[in-house]
Amino acid sequence: MTFRRTKIVATLGPASNSPEVLEQLILAGVDVCRLNFSHGTPDEHKARANLVREIAAKHGRFVALLGDLQGPKIRIAKFTDKRIELKEGDSFRFSVTHPRDAGNQDVVGIDYPDLIKDCKTGDELLLDDGRVVMLVEATTADELHCRVLVGGPLSDHKGINRRGGGLTAPALTAKDKADIKLAAEMELDYLAVSFPRDAADMELARRLRDEAGGTAWLVAKIERAEAVADDETLDGLIRASDAVMVARGDLGVEIGDAELVGIQKKIILHARRLNKAVITATQMMESMISSPMPTRAEVSDVANAALDFTDAVMLSAESAAGLYPVEAVKAMARVCVGAEKHPTNKRSSHRLGHTFTRCDESVALAAMYTANHFPGVKAIIALTESGYSPLIMSRIRSQVPIFAFTPHRETQARVAMFRGVYTVPFDPAALPANKVSEAAIEELVKRGVVQPGDWVILTKGDSYHTTGGTNSMKILHVGEPQV
Ligand code: G6P
Repeated sequence: MTFRRTKIVATLGPASNSPEVLEQLILAGVDVCRLNFSHGTPDEHKARANLVREIAAKHGRFVALLGDLQGPKIRIAKFTDKRIELKEGDSFRFSVTHPRDAGNQDVVGIDYPDLIKDCKTGDELLLDDGRVVMLVEATTADELHCRVLVGGPLSDHKGINRRGGGLTAPALTAKDKADIKLAAEMELDYLAVSFPRDAADMELARRLRDEAGGTAWLVAKIERAEAVADDETLDGLIRASDAVMVARGDLGVEIGDAELVGIQKKIILHARRLNKAVITATQMMESMISSPMPTRAEVSDVANAALDFTDAVMLSAESAAGLYPVEAVKAMARVCVGAEKHPTNKRSSHRLGHTFTRCDESVALAAMYTANHFPGVKAIIALTESGYSPLIMSRIRSQVPIFAFTPHRETQARVAMFRGVYTVPFDPAALPANKVSEAAIEELVKRGVVQPGDWVILTKGDSYHTTGGTNSMKILHVGEPQV
């Protein structure tokens, strides 16, 4: 049996709202559905989430839900005629006092007064993800006076970045704080924090999540230049999170597209080393918004992320607003499976030369070492509470599938994001102790994953339902009586 190890995150939107399309997306292989809190009402998000859970349950699939907070994206206000056209050399102003709905060819309002304070003469501002570029020539108490360097259309609410980053807006807005509560109410599995600058922003998000009673794992979106400016900040941010997203849209604008690929590889590597999951996002299949087939460059982009061992690849507008959402998922799935055939997927250095800090980490890595060096091993069974032991296992390259056996709904959904990890609902506490191994193996036999004669590795702790309690590993021969 071949399992696709690289997981697929699909953003939901108008193109994927109907139960029919959603069902096709899930059947085509979506592992995580992303709800973008920048658009839509709480009721719309709740309806979508319920639908995802209903359809997944109907098909025996485990699909995680990820809420993506809007964050402090700095945006221009509106134009009287919705959009203007700027030419190179034009002068243009951003004003905190100009009426919010009356932008024109010379000036537009902005909702973020600190922009004036944060910018100085000589700064370059990037509008609409860098499509329009302006140079700040002068500042007054309430305006920035700019010269257009790269012209183009500019329309209502487009975003502003500064080249090199450094705009100081705090990561969590009032809306984000309300959405953290909404996420807790909806029992979302993941919550993505937009534009965190450092570990402190993630710690604040974690505190607010706890206060709201949520259990979502927190995903730091790496999208500011200062987050990747040095290894200390990047690693601090990764450590303070449960997973990270390489959010290439804003990150590419701030650091420049040329450096983006190198940074992407570094973020994936560091996340895996620090035992965290990682999503690679933005424009992966962009042309599929309007075409049923990806370009070679897009195929290469998805394949390279899979070859770098990202946990998941993500679709944004392709599945939210494009014409071919189902085709995009199918194409991604196909490309990931193809990339996973490459020999680097089988080799791992198993952190040789590293020391481990925890018992469960040591057992998890011993399991992977055995799985990769004992060819008879066809599957790994990790009895898990939170998904942590299979998460550590899946940081190691392997072709052997890892099955998270857990009784908890949250964990069943959460592990859907981890590379090479699949769920089997299972409660060891409901069985006599001497029946657990046999019953666990039976679940894999039933699914056609293993057969008599195969070997299976099983990890667990001394007591049931103890997170972090994994302290043993067994090598079991399928078909023989187990104790
Ligand atoms: C299950 C097993 C326990 C083990 C735990 C590990 O509950 O029955 O024996 O200690 O998983 O959970 P974790 O969340 O650390 O992977």
